[in-house]
Amino acid sequence: MVSLRSAASIMEAVDRDRYHIIPVGISREGIWLAGEDIWRILWEKRSIVNATRATLLMDPGKPGLLVKNAGGRKEWDYMPIDLVFPVLHGPFGEDGTVQGMLDLAGLPYVGSGVLASASAMDKVVMKTLFQKHGLPIAPYLDFNRWDWSQNSRFWLKQIDDNLGYPCFVKPANLGSSVGISKVSSASVLDAAVFEALSYDDKVVVEANISGREIECSVLGDLDPQASLPGEIIPCNEFYDYRAKYIDERSELVVPVGLGAELENKIKELSCRAFKAVEASGLSRVDFFVNTEEKSVIVNEINTMPGFTSISMYPKLWEASGIDYSQLINRLLEIALLRFERRGALKSQPPE
Ligand SMILES: Nc1ncnc2c1ncn2[C@@H]1O[C@H](COP(=O)(O)OP(=O)(O)O)[C@@H](O)[C@H]1O
Ligand SMILES: [Mg+2]
Repeated sequence: MVSLRSAASIMEAVDRDRYHIIPVGISREGIWLAGEDIWRILWEKRSIVNATRATLLMDPGKPGLLVKNAGGRKEWDYMPIDLVFPVLHGPFGEDGTVQGMLDLAGLPYVGSGVLASASAMDKVVMKTLFQKHGLPIAPYLDFNRWDWSQNSRFWLKQIDDNLGYPCFVKPANLGSSVGISKVSSASVLDAAVFEALSYDDKVVVEANISGREIECSVLGDLDPQASLPGEIIPCNEFYDYRAKYIDERSELVVPVGLGAELENKIKELSCRAFKAVEASGLSRVDFFVNTEEKSVIVNEINTMPGFTSISMYPKLWEASGIDYSQLINRLLEIALLRFERRGALKSQPPE
């Protein structure tokens, strides 16, 4: 739903003198749809029986879509496209899968490539890259379903000894706070791990970090720029699914004045986090900040952050002097430049 809202906002703001838009939607079942009625079908979760189907043509020499009207001709019609804006949050969209398919189809697209998308979606890989680049992160442990089933006592002791309580238990891959629990004592750890393992084979357990939740937007490619930081004030005990999408009492403070020293540190860490995962185009980097001690912990990077006109990512750019439609134009330009640059690379080893 957030993806749909983001897509609607983006479509409204794209420069129609320069770009002609072909909306493509993906149903819950993973079926690609095109045509005028996709909004109704996706919003209202209507039957897709009569919807126009779409698929990518896997021919880098002829980038485009194949579309077929349910009641119309039997053949697929070819529809050329020049550029894709994948407005998809979470697995099968933000995790490199769609990006890989677009690479194979020979299409430029907004945002990060396969490697960065996949690395940022997996909290363990993301943390490993952050550590390698010297970024400050919360103490954590990770294990998989097998490790836990073989010796949960060992992991309980590790958590006790190294992280303490409360701690956060998360599935390694996902987002939107789904499957995440704040665990107050060892007695409920088992249930939290069980919950996280229902979403992924791999679990991350993190020490609780107290601090304000500060976010920063990054834009660019090999030499990215960071926006002014903003603050999230969750209405729940932590920024869980409810606080993010359902309860409207969570607040976004944009921009948030933290003083030049902290702001610069956050901007610098944001660009370093962007480069650590080799992101491109856009990302939002999220922090825990202790304003008294001036300490900053990087929580995560999101390579396809919420993009409705009231989302944190564009609001921070707006506060930094780039408005919503300029931002979209800039992202489309970066996508084309990245595609050209990468297309010029030698892809074959010498004979
Ligand atoms: N180590 C932590 N210490 C304190 N709060 C945390 C910690 N990890 C997560 N949280 C809380 O849980 C929320 C969701 O966690 P996060 O890792 O950002 O997951 P997601 O990728 O689903 O957004 C955060 O915004 C924050 O409110
Ligand atoms: Mg988060």
